[in-house]
Amino acid sequence: MSGATIHKSISIHSFKGGTGKSNISSNTALTLARRGHSVVLLDFDFRAPSLSTLFQMKDGVKYWLNDWLDQKCELTDALADLTSKFGTKGKFQVGFTNPSGDAINEMTQHGLDEAWQARVLQLILDAKDTLFERHGVNFIVFDTSPGFALSSINAIVASDHLILVLKADQQDLVGTEQLIKGVYDQTLGKQPELILNKMPVSILKSKEKYERILGEIQQQLGVRIVSVIACFCEVLENLGSQLFVIAKPEHPFTKSIEHLASHFEKVK
Ligand SMILES: Nc1ncnc2c1ncn2[C@@H]1O[C@H](COP(=O)(O)OP(=O)(O)OP(=O)(O)O)[C@@H](O)[C@H]1O
Ligand SMILES: [Mg+2]
Repeated sequence: MSGATIHKSISIHSFKGGTGKSNISSNTALTLARRGHSVVLLDFDFRAPSLSTLFQMKDGVKYWLNDWLDQKCELTDALADLTSKFGTKGKFQVGFTNPSGDAINEMTQHGLDEAWQARVLQLILDAKDTLFERHGVNFIVFDTSPGFALSSINAIVASDHLILVLKADQQDLVGTEQLIKGVYDQTLGKQPELILNKMPVSILKSKEKYERILGEIQQQLGVRIVSVIACFCEVLENLGSQLFVIAKPEHPFTKSIEHLASHFEKVK
């Protein structure tokens, strides 16, 4: 599949931390590249960057996204080309964020600076045009910080699609409802889609319970659920040693990721 006419930017966000954003965004971005698309994955979690660890980059990063945002380089300089590392059919590039304490401190200070964030939004919008129009990129995927971080809001504003990842527990649901109704809808005018992740297997096994819970969530949040992913010990056990879709190509988690990738190919 060439996917030559697709140009989509997608933010993966959540109300609470630890819902599975980085895992889902990395594996989905890699899957899209394996299916022949040109993909750019960006680590937009400046408070707790994790992609350089997930992709085991160690000392292999020349420029960080921090350098691009500080205007020390272009975004294209800060993209690591991992196409041959993963043998993907399409080009697979990742922008990593510096996980050092000093870099996180610096980004935390910028995080509250509205003028700096406004400049960042313009940088993202310009970079998006460049990647799509000059470099033929098909998908840009932003892995964001949970909650109301301005950097996440910037990524969301620049994205055509917004995916919220949540666990089906009450705390997460109530917070997510506030995020959807108070921020996405009223302030940003964005309609998200949902991924319910880490769904207990006991619920998945009972058709009646599963349908009731999904119906309740759909009604409470009023948005479409695009995927329900079970809680798999194997995903936890993987411990970031290898990307899951590579480690276990036949596993149901990998199948869920493939389903999500085809959703992104189709969604208008
Ligand atoms: N479906 C799943 N089943 C079991 N464990 C999962 C599943 N999805 C993610 N995890 C595990 O949950 C943990 C958190 O995942 P991840 O880092 O992707 O979340 P996150 O939303 O990016 O977190 P943060 O908000 O801190 O950035 C990881 O240990 C990951 O392996
Ligand atoms: Mg994360």
